[in-house]
Amino acid sequence: MVQITSVVDYEVQQGVAVLSLDNPPVNALSQGVRQGLKEGVARAMADAAVQAVVIYCRGRTFIAGADITEFASGPAEPGLHQVLEDMDNATKPVIAAIHGTALGGGLETALCCHFRVAVAGAKLGLPEVNLGLLPGAGGTQRLPRVVGVEKALEMVTTGVPISAVEALDAGLVDRIVEGDLLEGALVFAREKVAHGCELKRIRDRDEKLQSARNKPGIFAECRAAIAAKKRGFLAPEYNIRCIEAAVKLPFDEGMKTEGKLFMELMTGPQAAAQQYFFFAERQAAKIPEVPRDTAEIPIEKVGVIGSGTMGGGIAMSMANVGIPVTMVEITSAALERGLGVIRKNYENSARKGRIGEGDVEHRMGLIRGSLDMNDLAQCDLVIEAVFEDMAVKKDIFTRLDAIAKPGAVLASNTSALDINEIAAVTSRPESVIGLHFFSPANVMKLLEVVRGEKTSKEVIKTSMSLARRIRKTAVLVGVCHGFVGNRILFMRQYQAEKLALEGAPVHRIDKLLYDFGFPMGAFQMSDLAGLDIGWNRETSKGATVRERLCEMDRRGQKTGAGFYDYDENRKPTPAPVVQELYAEFATRAGITQREIADEEILERLLLPMINEGAKILDEGVAIRASDIDVVYVYGYGWPVYRGGPMHYANTLGLDRVVEKLRAYQRSGDSDFWEPSRYLVDLAEKGGRFS
Ligand code: 3HC
Repeated sequence: MVQITSVVDYEVQQGVAVLSLDNPPVNALSQGVRQGLKEGVARAMADAAVQAVVIYCRGRTFIAGADITEFASGPAEPGLHQVLEDMDNATKPVIAAIHGTALGGGLETALCCHFRVAVAGAKLGLPEVNLGLLPGAGGTQRLPRVVGVEKALEMVTTGVPISAVEALDAGLVDRIVEGDLLEGALVFAREKVAHGCELKRIRDRDEKLQSARNKPGIFAECRAAIAAKKRGFLAPEYNIRCIEAAVKLPFDEGMKTEGKLFMELMTGPQAAAQQYFFFAERQAAKIPEVPRDTAEIPIEKVGVIGSGTMGGGIAMSMANVGIPVTMVEITSAALERGLGVIRKNYENSARKGRIGEGDVEHRMGLIRGSLDMNDLAQCDLVIEAVFEDMAVKKDIFTRLDAIAKPGAVLASNTSALDINEIAAVTSRPESVIGLHFFSPANVMKLLEVVRGEKTSKEVIKTSMSLARRIRKTAVLVGVCHGFVGNRILFMRQYQAEKLALEGAPVHRIDKLLYDFGFPMGAFQMSDLAGLDIGWNRETSKGATVRERLCEMDRRGQKTGAGFYDYDENRKPTPAPVVQELYAEFATRAGITQREIADEEILERLLLPMINEGAKILDEGVAIRASDIDVVYVYGYGWPVYRGGPMHYANTLGLDRVVEKLRAYQRSGDSDFWEPSRYLVDLAEKGGRFS
């Protein structure tokens, strides 16, 4: 065996050269890999004893893409194009042996091989769109020549990889290998040598493009299909343009289009934000004070207290990954209602083909209803999900403390209340933690894990791992009112309300947030959640616009009216009565309503969020700025192509953020606008949130 570079070996096994890559964790195409592939292929071509080449990866996966950490500095020689061109022009059969994931540049490498064999569990895809990019090493030109234009469009615009079995059907994989992959690849290579085979490059194939030329509407259809989901993102459109180029232009011209559009994306702010976010998400899993080898509490049975919207969604999150759940309610009517909603949700998913028919019964079978808290005695984790009332929560935790087995994790799904106060009523505060799911809990990706003063490292580690198991992204935060997400949101809501009082129409405020990239505006969000959260008809004094709306039975989407009027399809239209109410409240408060510029509206909504984020960092409630961004992108719909509030602040420049906060401070509401000391210090040093 010859070591070509520190990460690529070369060995000839009975006439077949095996180039083995070993570049953990994901065999990314770092400089050493590119160099090794280039030299290895050249060596095999020059070696008369070699008749074929197999590219094989050690470790958990085939090449999972270009090395994203190299993007900032620009890649060192040899460039990927150079390496792939040599492979494409190889005069002996080159075979990619794929396990794990062949993604991005990894799949592009495989597309420059003459053949691809894979294990059945492998996945193949071009996920560059998720990094704000497009495949920049020929993927947009080669993939449609292999799988056809429709499939290629789907793969590059969604970024979702396909299974090896689907790839076999699509012609992207030539054989599924049972048993040992390298052995199977060697057998395949020898067969090709023995029977002789035509070494046709993918770039020279045209038949699958031809059929797309007869369907000119294909691109418009694709654009229409992704319009809503990919609103605001540049990369999906750029990917489509590249596939269009593959269909319309000769290969080399198509490559030029791909290269030009790739560079445009790569040097733009969206790609920077999305790549930042890729690492931010992974960073959030790392807790400096909780080392990797911290023991975990095995979670095999989960209890959920409460079968309302949150409790039901949490139970589904567990059942979806096969964890049995006992869901406790007070009355049988509430329990039946809760179980009924879960069943309906699963049946809807089955109808839409998202889960199989059999999954409905299987998952329902994992959720057991009960009216007796004693049934939680054997649970490894119990999550309380009842309404936000400290007295009720304390009562539940006192009882739970007496029932739950020693060592069980006791969690509250509170979205704002003090975890330390809840923990204090138990004899085991080290076992108590906040697990703040977002509604709908079975769908939303974020989990705020709230550590109390006494929460043990084991309980934190267990909670972070559980999040990954139920396919959520967890962010560890500390105790404060509203934790990270809601505390920051309160700032935006406060300003939205003030802006409406000062004369900015509710729908204009919402439209600006929507155009910024949020899925909906502040008032639409309130309507969705319900305006009557915490409202009581008996005690209501009509002291705010919200209270007055509730008194008018405009309690949000569920009553067909709130800040907006809704039609039967829940489509909102601005409600004149809301503007009238704001005008009335403004007069009463002595505020003269005025025309407010878009720029001011947006700044007043977003800058306080950044300022609050800085205060949160100063207090140590979040570990790092990027954790706040993960909370915002996954919990509140902050557009990932703007990275999150803290990354956004970096792009504005922190000195500019401070300057603007001070300018608003001068015009009133001095305490609210006071820039955080942490932010000012950072800005004065010319620093950034990092
Ligand atoms: N470059 C550099 N580092 C990478 C990487 C990449 N392409 N992909 C993953 N990593 C790192 C992660 O940051 C993480 O590092 P850490 O342990 O220090 O946090 C480590 O590898 C493991 O990653 P995950 O935690 O994500 O491991 P999983 O097993 O959950 O997932 C994966 C593995 C599916 C490969 C996932 O990491 C992934 O989706 N990676 C990105 C794939 C991708 O986007 N490829 C395209 C890159 S762009 C490109 O190829 C351009 C080309 O067209 C020219």
